Amino acid sequence: MRPAPRWQPVLAAGASRSAGARRPTRSERGDPSVLKDTTAVVTGASSGIGAAVAEALAAEGASVALLARRRDRLNGLAEAINARDGGRAEVYEADVTDPDAVRAAVDAAAGRGGDSNGIDILVNNAGSGTWGPALGAELDDWHATVDVNVGGVLNATHAALPHLARAADAAPRGVADLVTVSSLAGRRVPGPDSNVYAATKHAVGAFSEALRQELAERHVRVGVVEPGIVVTELTTAGRPHAPDATRPTGYGLLQPEDVAAAVVFMVTRPRHVALNEMLVRPTEQTC
Ligand SMILES: NC(=O)c1ccc[n+]([C@@H]2O[C@H](COP(=O)([O-])OP(=O)(O)OC[C@H]3O[C@@H](n4cnc5c(N)ncnc54)[C@H](OP(=O)(O)O)[C@@H]3O)[C@@H](O)[C@H]2O)c1
Repeated sequence: MRPAPRWQPVLAAGASRSAGARRPTRSERGDPSVLKDTTAVVTGASSGIGAAVAEALAAEGASVALLARRRDRLNGLAEAINARDGGRAEVYEADVTDPDAVRAAVDAAAGRGGDSNGIDILVNNAGSGTWGPALGAELDDWHATVDVNVGGVLNATHAALPHLARAADAAPRGVADLVTVSSLAGRRVPGPDSNVYAATKHAVGAFSEALRQELAERHVRVGVVEPGIVVTELTTAGRPHAPDATRPTGYGLLQPEDVAAAVVFMVTRPRHVALNEMLVRPTEQTC
């Protein structure tokens, strides 16, 4: 039998269940420490969306485990976060395609502080891509994309699930969050050059939906955030056939912080609200 949750009931004894009687959550009250005492793991935290998500979660009070391969980048980000008010940051150098390295990092993050309540938030963000015509493509490039975008999500999710389930049973929130950064290309195939990238993002969407159905009653909320084009290294490095954020579009593109705000919104909902999918486009993008 599962242990009784240690979270505090939302309603005082005898209080009505009407929406008006509900106490506002800390996030609704604008409390900057809404994620105080929580632990978050963010994969792909060394740049772009992951770095912005880590900063935003820490600004809400979460202790954030920064996971990626580029230790120097992670160290710089951890220094910046730890110099500010809010949650702390710790660095875990790991390749998401290496299940043992990911599990060691996730277990270490969960065990910080000794008597662990688990991991409250996992953000599966690490991602990469190959784009271009299938005819003439390198098979190794396809597999490399699958290994990171799908394999990495599976590795981190498998390692974190027991910790998320434990956190969902515990104070301070009585709920845990598993968020995967998918893509607009996980909702619809944006064009033929997106073949394998779109396939990986559709795959994590399907995986997330199955997990959502399984874990809903455990109060582990599962969601995907699906950004349109965001200005990051992925879209500015001049990768052949990749979405190109350096090309003038005539309208404002998304910044990593825009996606981070969506992630934070998702994980700061009241316990009874699960926001399972967020598609975030630049306002003027029509496709
Ligand atoms: N930019 C966009 O327009 C856009 C749109 C929709 C969705 N997305 C998704 O957003 C996520 C973040 O991408 P981004 O745009 O922020 O690009 P980015 O700046 O290139 O960031 C990618 C992150 O993933 C990490 N990463 C890649 N391979 C890894 C591996 N094998 N092990 C561990 N970490 C790895 C990188 O860290 P290291 O290199 O240090 O390991 C980096 O921190 C991806 O899942 C991407 O598919 C991006």
